[in-house]
Amino acid sequence: MVETNDAQLDRPLQPKDGTAGIERPKALLDSLPEDPRPLMTLSSRHVVSSRQFDRETLVQIFRLAAQYESTPALLHPPLAGKILISAFYEPSTRTRLSFESAWHRLGGDIMSITDPKSTGMAKGESLADIAEMFNNYGDVIVLRNNEGPAIYEMLDSLRIPIINAGNGIDEHPTQAMADVYTIMKWRPELARTDLPAGQRIRIGIIGVPSRMRTVRSLLLTLGCFAHAIEEVVILSREDDLFDEGQAQELAEAGLKVRVATDLDGELPSLDVVYINAIAWVGDTFEAMGMDMRLSAASPLKKGAIVLHPLARGEELSTDLDKTPHNWYFAQARGAVFIRMALLTCMVRRISEVMDVPDVGRG
Ligand code: CP
Repeated sequence: MVETNDAQLDRPLQPKDGTAGIERPKALLDSLPEDPRPLMTLSSRHVVSSRQFDRETLVQIFRLAAQYESTPALLHPPLAGKILISAFYEPSTRTRLSFESAWHRLGGDIMSITDPKSTGMAKGESLADIAEMFNNYGDVIVLRNNEGPAIYEMLDSLRIPIINAGNGIDEHPTQAMADVYTIMKWRPELARTDLPAGQRIRIGIIGVPSRMRTVRSLLLTLGCFAHAIEEVVILSREDDLFDEGQAQELAEAGLKVRVATDLDGELPSLDVVYINAIAWVGDTFEAMGMDMRLSAASPLKKGAIVLHPLARGEELSTDLDKTPHNWYFAQARGAVFIRMALLTCMVRRISEVMDVPDVGRG
């Protein structure tokens, strides 16, 4: 029997600590002019890579997400009668539940698969054949598969859109959207293309771009906002930090990327510190970079925000949770609204939702 503590059981729920940033979506919404045209291009499109997005489309997704976050109770849920196939073949807390929460809030229904052995994959059925069946049963698929190429094997057979919710060490594009949405809520002026040079930010990423899908997609997404970023500092002591061509692609996007190993030496000048220590490889995860940790004792710049895609390990001390540096809980919360915005645009024509003339794909 578990020993109980009456004070713990009887305590009324408190306003949440560690929720810096949850009041910010209205400021972002008010700062961004509405332009539904980029969102129209998302109708019936797959979302596999962060490379598919440009700044204009991301800004309008952030604006719609901020609108949903500011006014979460919808009078007319736009996806009533639509079905999401939620297929997660690798563990997930945030991505699966935030996609499913987003879909429920939009009024749709869900079919969920959390174990590939419960599908024809256990009998050797091909991904292409499974994709062919998905076409008949749902309106959109969210897939997490630890095999990088799996989602690409399904694309040619699909007649409904699919979203990559993490494919091995390759990409996690909607996580990157949630990451940058959080940064934009913190500093809405960063979405402006005429940002004065003195207002650009410095971002530190503790992680391995070639091995972590969250970091790979984040860097590609940050490339769309290179005008607002003074420098990205990759903090790691690992070898082979970049795949062939990866650093060059970021440079071509205008992102200035530097590698450093002295965490405490860099922290005092970083405005955003993103940390991750997990790479999913095959059926398990590899922890890496555990020699670089953040805690309330770290020399973080005043006003700096800390982001983490979570799940948390020892690299991020819980003593940061109750400090103003904690924007990682706001980051996880905002993912619901980013996914609501994206799903709405993919499954419904945005012209139907926003009452604007449909000018077709841009
Ligand atoms: N951020 C993220 O991908 O978390 P989950 O593994 O819990 O989905």
